[in-house]
Amino acid sequence: MLVIFFTLSFFALGSFAGAPSNSSGCLCTYENPCWPTPDQFAELESQVSQPLIYPVPTASACYPANDPSGNCTQVMERWTDGNWRSSIPGSMAEPNFESFVFKNGTISACYLNTSLGAPCEQGSVPVIGVDARTPQDIQAAVNFALRYSLKLVGHWRIIRHDYLGRSTGRGAFVVWTHKMKNITYDAEFAPEGAPANETYQAMTVGSGVQWHEAYDVANQNGRMMVGAQDPDGSVGAGGGWFQGGGHSSLSPSYGLGVDNVVQLTVVTSTGAHLTVNNYQYPDLFWALRGGGGGTYGIVTSVTYRTYQQLPVVLYFMQANVTNTTVMKELIGGMLRLQPNLTDDGWSGYGFFVNTSATFIGMNPGISTAAANASTQPLTDYWLSLESKGISLEIEISPFDTWYAWHTWFQQLFSTTGEDGTNMMVTSRLLSRDILTNQYADVAEILSDCQGEVNMVAGGKVAQISPDSAGLNPAWRNAIVETVCGVFWAEGATAEEISGQIDQLKVWIKDMYALTPQAGAYFNEASLFEIDWQYTFFGSHYGKLKEIKDKYDPYRLFVVAEGVGSEEWNEELTCRW
Ligand SMILES: Cc1cc2nc3c(=O)[nH]c(=O)nc-3n(C[C@H](O)[C@H](O)[C@H](O)COP(=O)(O)OP(=O)(O)OC[C@H]3O[C@@H](n4cnc5c(N)ncnc54)[C@H](O)[C@@H]3O)c2cc1C
Ligand SMILES: *[C@@H]1O[C@H](CO)[C@@H](O)[C@H](O)[C@H]1NC(C)=O
Ligand SMILES: *[C@@H]1O[C@H](CO)[C@@H](O)[C@H](O)[C@H]1NC(C)=O
Ligand SMILES: *[C@@H]1O[C@H](CO)[C@@H](O)[C@H](O)[C@H]1NC(C)=O
Ligand SMILES: *[C@@H]1O[C@H](CO)[C@@H](O)[C@H](O)[C@H]1NC(C)=O
Ligand SMILES: *[C@@H]1O[C@H](CO)[C@@H](O)[C@H](O)[C@H]1NC(C)=O
Ligand SMILES: *[C@@H]1O[C@H](CO)[C@@H](O)[C@H](O)[C@H]1NC(C)=O
Ligand SMILES: *[C@@H]1O[C@H](CO)[C@@H](O)[C@H](O)[C@H]1NC(C)=O
Ligand SMILES: *[C@@H]1O[C@H](CO)[C@@H](O)[C@H](O)[C@H]1NC(C)=O
Ligand SMILES: *[C@@H]1O[C@H](CO)[C@@H](O)[C@H](O)[C@H]1NC(C)=O
Ligand SMILES: *[C@@H]1O[C@H](CO)[C@@H](O)[C@H](O)[C@H]1NC(C)=O
Ligand SMILES: *[C@@H]1O[C@H](CO)[C@@H](O)[C@H](O)[C@H]1NC(C)=O
Repeated sequence: MLVIFFTLSFFALGSFAGAPSNSSGCLCTYENPCWPTPDQFAELESQVSQPLIYPVPTASACYPANDPSGNCTQVMERWTDGNWRSSIPGSMAEPNFESFVFKNGTISACYLNTSLGAPCEQGSVPVIGVDARTPQDIQAAVNFALRYSLKLVGHWRIIRHDYLGRSTGRGAFVVWTHKMKNITYDAEFAPEGAPANETYQAMTVGSGVQWHEAYDVANQNGRMMVGAQDPDGSVGAGGGWFQGGGHSSLSPSYGLGVDNVVQLTVVTSTGAHLTVNNYQYPDLFWALRGGGGGTYGIVTSVTYRTYQQLPVVLYFMQANVTNTTVMKELIGGMLRLQPNLTDDGWSGYGFFVNTSATFIGMNPGISTAAANASTQPLTDYWLSLESKGISLEIEISPFDTWYAWHTWFQQLFSTTGEDGTNMMVTSRLLSRDILTNQYADVAEILSDCQGEVNMVAGGKVAQISPDSAGLNPAWRNAIVETVCGVFWAEGATAEEISGQIDQLKVWIKDMYALTPQAGAYFNEASLFEIDWQYTFFGSHYGKLKEIKDKYDPYRLFVVAEGVGSEEWNEELTCRW
């Protein structure tokens, strides 16, 4: 999400002058004999626009021996600030993905809390990389890899950071796209190769643009966009978000991220820079829209449809609920009513933590009176629980624009950023049928895990053909996505962490048992999903794999539980 960068680690084999070949057929990582020499990196540096970068963990500045010029005060102050973290090449949104747990339980990490007495170590943070500013920089990085791989059928590795740690890689090489910040609004954008009358009021973003930046420029043009609804807007607009699907507060009205992309540019493992849309490389365009980030190539820009800014109505509910049985009733009743709400254009986010339940709904282009009428069953339901001892606050209020509502949303969460927290999550996409018939069972699990309900599908998402994009078809039947997570404190032992993961696995198993056909969201899931190929990609898996093999013949791009990753060992270092 936040860190906009790419990790390649090399499998150099005998191709690097003087480097012995890696006869095991594995990827080459830092400190192995096959790793490129300083001279070879210097040659790469001469081909790119910026000096190479040497990422370090976020907290390094708190360890003078590691980073004498660093500012630990700043690190402490901004630890949970996603935009700040994303501006640091070695920083991940969740610090656990900066650390590395060895098989023997030793953890290599760099903790913010220096009193833990642990040394600051590199963990999973890549050691060197390219600070890409242009597609040419990315081509140079890929070609550097390619030049050596040609002799050996290519073994490459790309991992990046997200909830599954897909953008980190111990001992890896990173392509950091964070500074590819171009944003262009074009009221008459014509996709290459499209009929002359096909134009869009579109915005093109470089792959380092983050949603808060895209929203600001769209708003200056009176437009709004289907994008991430995260508290600080630091999720990338041109990276993993749309490639995994991309859900938004505007999705029930305008579809998912994948439904709003009209064109992409991408560097493939052959070093080509392709412009991809419905008319050119339509198969690759199909796969990149939902077939998972870090799998087909390095996206350099994305062009999205935009929509006129509309007034929106907020529906806000907060309840204090001390009785767990009543909390389950509250969640269950809410789930049961979601299908009708998305049919009416509502999106919403429900959070259930400790004794507090919150639901934030939003509907664009509706009158306050109509909003009141269409949420009446929901309001009546919450009110009916008052006799069971809950205290409630319900508010319906209009905003002049979606942008103004979004600003309100960000302020609401400004003190509770989840960045800088050690966590893993799992997700499930729930259909109308499940919400109608199994809402009580789902509510049990959500109450237990203190989870989240993202009411971001249904409506328009359901009206678009499941085969129009590589995206998991389960999204087209879904109304909500549920998310459960586990958290742990810095300095937790490997045993304590694995205890938390065991808890996560219980929720995964329970949700899977309830909803075996349902699927999960590629971007908000765990490394422990059951039958991940089906869970993340459904019936599209086979076609996605064919397209992956066609455009990435060198197997340069592999991420955890991404298409084709079953050909690799658990560490994604060696192919079977
Ligand atoms: C606070 C928070 C809020 C969120 N809110 C939402 C939300 O509202 N809606 C939603 O759908 N999701 C949301 N997410 C999840 C988000 O979609 C994922 O975390 C996603 O992976 C972020 O993509 P990124 O490019 O920002 O991150 P990165 O960590 O940079 O990348 C993630 C993955 O995408 C790949 N990738 C990134 N850039 C490129 C590129 N240029 N070319 C090819 N592959 C690339 C990487 O290989 C990696 O596998 C949220 C996450 C967080 C932490
Ligand atoms: C080959 O790769 C493996 C796994 O990454 C590594 O352990 C080994 O040291 C490498 N061999 C050489 C010669 O670099
Ligand atoms: C360190 O960061 C803090 C907070 O951002 C700032 O106030 C301070 O001036 C910085 N100190 C130095 C020496 O740069
Ligand atoms: C665990 O393994 C790592 C990597 O091999 C090694 O550096 C470390 O010393 C080991 N720790 C213990 C306690 O054996
Ligand atoms: C830092 O670690 C020390 C030692 O374990 C602990 O006592 C202290 O509470 C920790 N501080 C924070 C802020 O977590
Ligand atoms: C950014 O946009 C400007 C103006 O459209 C263009 O000239 C420039 O080449 C773009 N830069 C990149 C890296 O795409
Ligand atoms: C563009 O023109 C073609 C052929 O005249 C027509 O079929 C199509 O509907 C038009 N499309 C748009 C978006 O106007
Ligand atoms: C919680 O609420 C349920 C349902 O209203 C009730 O049966 C139960 O007695 C309550 N439990 C407590 C501890 O109040
Ligand atoms: C959803 O709306 C329909 C039509 O108004 C109604 O018949 C149905 O009872 C509603 N569903 C729920 C769960 O309230
Ligand atoms: C929930 O309760 C636990 C235990 O009392 C506490 O540590 C945690 O901070 C609470 N979470 C929130 C969001 O209030
Ligand atoms: C909906 O409208 C009714 C009638 O005007 C009003 O009593 C009620 O408070 C409104 N509901 C909300 C949640 O604002
Ligand atoms: C719930 O409790 C919090 C903290 O005690 C309080 O600030 C809030 O107003 C309460 N909400 C309701 C609806 O009673």
